[in-house]
Amino acid sequence: MLGRIALAAAALVGTASAQLTITNPSANSWWVAQSQNTLAWTCNTSPYQNYTVLLANSNPSILASPLAIIAVQQNYDCSETITQQQSAQPAGTGYTVLLASTLNSTDIYAQSEPFEIKALGAAYPATTASASATGSAGSASPTGTTGGALANYIPVGMSMAAALALGLVVA
Ligand SMILES: *[C@@H]1O[C@H](CO)[C@@H](O)[C@H](O)[C@H]1NC(C)=O
Ligand SMILES: *[C@@H]1O[C@H](CO)[C@@H](O)[C@H](O)[C@H]1NC(C)=O
Repeated sequence: MLGRIALAAAALVGTASAQLTITNPSANSWWVAQSQNTLAWTCNTSPYQNYTVLLANSNPSILASPLAIIAVQQNYDCSETITQQQSAQPAGTGYTVLLASTLNSTDIYAQSEPFEIKALGAAYPATTASASATGSAGSASPTGTTGGALANYIPVGMSMAAALALGLVVA
């Protein structure tokens, strides 16, 4: 029985990992430094309930290692406004957003295309301008960028309730 469950879980992860895709930012949809920006993903096909959001750069002098900008992001949100406090990164190219396991941030579920963070004052890409303008979600949780902040964002009792509500815990 346990073996079957483990196999089913492995199959789910194996086949579905390609179905969580970051749709914004992308190669032709940039972010703007010191501004609110939009992160969006294919929540409807995601096999994952939640993940840690990290920002990385191929140039180690810009970011030596991936930086956690949201400790626990719920998949069902489908998109999130990233505030200037969460991503205080300088303008540059070669950035990627990573969605990773909340328990192991090197277990990467999805990676965005390399994208650019343009300097403050640059126009937003046309497709995300309205989404960026309406966002205020960032005010709810000034997410820490260190591992130590994680504990503050995992209400253990609540997440169990959430898991039950989603039918993911079999009684
Ligand atoms: C974290 O994930 C990576 C990549 O999947 C894996 O190689 C590593 O063993 C994991 N670490 C732990 C502690 O599970
Ligand atoms: C994240 O998802 C896992 C299942 O993949 C669940 O067990 C856990 O409670 C969730 N955590 C939060 C904080 O929602």
